[in-house]
Amino acid sequence: MENVVLVTGGAGFIGSALVRLLRRVEPLGVVNLDKLTYAGHRANIDALAGDSGHVFVHGDIGDLELVRRLFQEHRPRAVMHLAAETHVDRSILGARPFLETNVLGTHALLAAAREYHADCGPDRDRFRFLLVSTDEVYGSLGPSDPAFTETTPYDPRSPYAASKAAADHLTAAWFHTYGLPVLITNCSNNYGPRQYPEKLIPLMILLAMEGLPLPVYGDGLNVRDWLYVDDHARALRLVLDKGRPGQTYNIGGAAEIANIDLIRTLCRRLDDLMPESPHRPHERLIRFVPDRPGHDRRYAMNFKKVKSELGWEPRESFVSGLFQTIDWYLEHPEWIQAVAGPEFRQWLKRQYGTAA
Ligand code: NAD
Ligand code: DAU
Repeated sequence: MENVVLVTGGAGFIGSALVRLLRRVEPLGVVNLDKLTYAGHRANIDALAGDSGHVFVHGDIGDLELVRRLFQEHRPRAVMHLAAETHVDRSILGARPFLETNVLGTHALLAAAREYHADCGPDRDRFRFLLVSTDEVYGSLGPSDPAFTETTPYDPRSPYAASKAAADHLTAAWFHTYGLPVLITNCSNNYGPRQYPEKLIPLMILLAMEGLPLPVYGDGLNVRDWLYVDDHARALRLVLDKGRPGQTYNIGGAAEIANIDLIRTLCRRLDDLMPESPHRPHERLIRFVPDRPGHDRRYAMNFKKVKSELGWEPRESFVSGLFQTIDWYLEHPEWIQAVAGPEFRQWLKRQYGTAA
């Protein structure tokens, strides 16, 4: 077994932050398997060009023969599985790709990992299969409900959340039934550089920069618990190294905020950063639009377990992380150009009727 990790989805938002961390701090070799869907981009892993410890493989996690071959060729000591269809709104328009990748793709990875693990001899005990999942599997909280813990019953409400819940259950089943040493992490909403602009924060930044309407679903009072992406990557490395097989770890940002408050903060920051913009004050662009069907009201994560067992807690405060994120998008027009092309414009038109 080599000191190599097979990362799936490493050209996406969180996956690319994780891969950069894995190569930077106590470096591990990385085999990065990614299908490069609309959400996956080589621009996210530009910084690793020329790094011989990072091998990029363009392929599908559902391709069992490919995955088997990667296990045999690279003999990884772990899988960190992030590849997924990730956008709730897209899952509402059509669930099939979510079932194919999040459920059947996860099954293919688990099946190949089980075969490989059985064949690892004395190294078997070192192997880990880490699944990166979401707080959405726990459902929706009311305003004064306690935050989700690892024992909150599953209650997924969107097709996306249901597909992630299925992947979590399959992964736990591979632990109990086959003894595969799995770890599951469930985290709250991530934000930071390189997030595909269909998601709330980068969407609002890009639309506001162009003076386009900022669509706020429903009354804007839905609450999310925001986690800076590099804090998340750090948590994943710790869970990989020190987590107990068979366990779930919740990871949260300790940063609950209502969508409308977040968007207003973001608009005011853009006003400050772009004094010459004809779109100031950016708050004028806000439009309340019909709600997302089944829109979960509130998410909040109790992360006491990962804090007490592994010593992790978020370092970034929300306002400072949000401002850094806005700065990053303003400073990286070349990334926006590479990532937010015709597919993104079609998405804006389809979802919001915004002809941009
Ligand atoms: P993302 O949409 O930015 O990236 C997903 C990546 O997976 C892309 O690079 C894509 O090309 C790749 N991919 C998709 N289907 C694939 C397939 N069949 N085979 C190989 N690669 C494939 O996603 P993200 O926001 O970085 O999320 C990563 C993981 O974290 C996902 O599992 C997601 O469910 C989970 N998660 C995300 C958040 C969040 O706020 N972004 C929060 C909780 C959990
Ligand atoms: O909680 C973890 C989840 O966070 C991850 O598992 C998902 O992969 C990730 O996409 C994210 O899901 P959300 O649905 O919470 O994220 P999104 O950015 O789509 O929306 C955040 C909030 O903003 C949500 O309450 C819906 C609202 N929203 C979103 C969009 C895109 C709007 O009001 N307007 C919008 O245009």
